[in-house]
Amino acid sequence: MKKSCFFYRKKKYSLVQNGVITKKSPSNIALIKYWGKQKNKIQIPSNSSISYSLEKVYTETRLIYHLREKKKRSIKIFFSGKENTSFLPKILEFFHRISLYCSYLRDFNFVIETKNTFPHSSGIASSASSMSALALCIMEIEKKLVSSLEEDFFLRKASFLARFGSGSACRSIYPGLVVWGGHKSIKGSNNLYAIPYPYKIHPIFTKMGDTILVIDEYPKKILSSKGHQLMIHNPYAKERFKCANKNMDRLISILKMGDLQEFGELIEHEALTLHAMIMTSHPYFLWMKPNTLHVLYKVWDFRKQSKKNIYFTLDAGANVHLLYPIQEIVSIRKWIYSDLFSYCKKIIESFCQ
Ligand code: PMV
Repeated sequence: MKKSCFFYRKKKYSLVQNGVITKKSPSNIALIKYWGKQKNKIQIPSNSSISYSLEKVYTETRLIYHLREKKKRSIKIFFSGKENTSFLPKILEFFHRISLYCSYLRDFNFVIETKNTFPHSSGIASSASSMSALALCIMEIEKKLVSSLEEDFFLRKASFLARFGSGSACRSIYPGLVVWGGHKSIKGSNNLYAIPYPYKIHPIFTKMGDTILVIDEYPKKILSSKGHQLMIHNPYAKERFKCANKNMDRLISILKMGDLQEFGELIEHEALTLHAMIMTSHPYFLWMKPNTLHVLYKVWDFRKQSKKNIYFTLDAGANVHLLYPIQEIVSIRKWIYSDLFSYCKKIIESFCQ
């Protein structure tokens, strides 16, 4: 589907003067990471990525809209019940980018009330869940304007819009495994919006446990938008993009065959490669904290001794996601609480599905 399919330019607001829309959208954790954007393009990834959407880790957004009478536009944001002006520049930029595709946005004033079930800006993808929730709310307005709007198009355009707020947000529109970025082996994959993973998945991967160890609750010092930019001059970037695309081919076969060990090795390698990219950028940066490393070594030791299938992945931050098959949930969670709790500020239990 081309970019031009997403334009909405008609003016017809007799039915929608004002209203309230509420939407929930999950965070996601990438197995193959998106890190680096194509130069001089808006939010186009340098490689394809795939993530699991997370159950229980989500943003809930209430969008209140009023047809604008005065010239001046007003957008207010409330985060967990309190007005928050620090998110405003990002939201204004988002509205600016997408108003080309949703011309009606210019004619409304908005109040955005949003809350997360997890700490924001701490490496748990809060921008993914919040931007995708907002994109879904906006598509509900469009649905009121176009009664014939089909569900497929609704989700595809929501993903297309969410991408302008945060690249990884476009994957949060769908549950389960979701792909964003064109890849020769994945039919329908493209750079403009995400698609549900279209191939066979072994039952072991249809639902996995994800325990998130919150090691650092405070906002990270380097924003992912800046990190993506640094990839432009990273000397290893080109190889990284090639490697990610090869890893995607490997993952397709792993997901089909149900090979857990291969899966674990692949996602840990991807996570460490993402961190290697920020460590080798100029300026360089280190997201991991000492407790992140303690946890990673503990996981490797435990796995060796117990032969349990527990693997880590990381996002752009210090926190650790531990992935394991739900069949092993009881013993693995018991071990996490007894051996890893002391390294964490908080533990969030979730599922990839
Ligand atoms: O969506 P952004 O622009 O915040 O980028 C985040 C990318 C990672 O979360 C680090 C990896 C990914 O693919 O989700």
